[in-house]
Amino acid sequence: MGSFSSSLGNLFPLVFLLVLLSGMSCEAQLSTSFYNKTCPGALTEIRNAVRRAVSAERRMAASLIRLHFHDCFVQGCDGSILLDESPSIRSEKTAIPNNNSARGYNVIEDAKRTLERICPSVVSCADILTVAARDASVAVGGPTWEVKLGRKDSTTANRDRANSDLPSPFADANTLIAAFDVKGLNTRDMIALSGSHTLGQAQCFLFRSRIYSNGTDIDPGFASTRRRKCLQTGGDTTLAPLDLVTPNSFDNNYYKNLVQRKGLLISDQVLFTSPSTNSIVIEYSKSPAAFAADFASAMKKMSEIEPLLAPNGIVRKTCGAIN
Ligand code: HEM
Repeated sequence: MGSFSSSLGNLFPLVFLLVLLSGMSCEAQLSTSFYNKTCPGALTEIRNAVRRAVSAERRMAASLIRLHFHDCFVQGCDGSILLDESPSIRSEKTAIPNNNSARGYNVIEDAKRTLERICPSVVSCADILTVAARDASVAVGGPTWEVKLGRKDSTTANRDRANSDLPSPFADANTLIAAFDVKGLNTRDMIALSGSHTLGQAQCFLFRSRIYSNGTDIDPGFASTRRRKCLQTGGDTTLAPLDLVTPNSFDNNYYKNLVQRKGLLISDQVLFTSPSTNSIVIEYSKSPAAFAADFASAMKKMSEIEPLLAPNGIVRKTCGAIN
């Protein structure tokens, strides 16, 4: 008995080491200097592509920020949203939240084309989209943040997950909190990220029920203005700005609108109505600096959801297809 326990004692350091090693993986890590040696021009080229696109159409900044969000919420930020339909891919592009709605694919493909010329098969589409979202924020007066790089591109897409994991514009606050919580983003992150709706547009059929609700949570003047271009029937795809004051620049007007009951989507206004989120909306409505700082850190956090790292994944040659 004595010799049995003493041999166990001798084995302990070895067993401990084996347990430790089995828990470690040989996965690479995200890092800010990932392309410094392999593609030093990558960040400049992405920024140029975003600047070109945003100066041609300011809304494109909004579209790129949203595209990145819709990528990251489905199997992590792995460029899965960029894959086209093919015999082996059920594209996320036609999932309900993305179909005839997500935009900006061409901007990412343009940047990719340039990068394939200067450093072929090095920079992933997932990283291009992550950097583009940051540069889009900067291009319209929003905050900047340091982006960690080294994501690989997926060889798969998941339309069902796009349908189930992307939040609905008809959701209540607790449902929104839960949808972000499962991705590792807390309530404050969710409210700061929703502040992206300081930019961009939404289609009539996604906010019609709210503007015709005659509810107490909508400003009557705002509702009647929106009804003029979003009739009770027809014109489903007619656009309205998510931030009625400054839809093309990044600021905290989105939260000021919510306080005045002038949020466009149900999922916007509930952030003010619900006691679990109301105080943070008020805080951001008063402090553009607090909003900008929290937005930057939440975007960073979102961009690191379930990263796909070498040896897993690939670097696609074009973002719409696997090599
Ligand atoms: C909280 C849950 C959210 C819901 C329910 C939601 C829903 C929506 C909907 C329905 C639209 C309009 C789409 C259309 O009309 O085709 C939209 C637009 C937009 N969303 Fe969200 N969103 C949410 C969070 C976010 C987050 C986290 C971001 C980015 C970090 C974001 C960025 C945007 C942007 C920038 C637009 C305008 C896009 C454009 O004009 O092309 N949204 N969102």
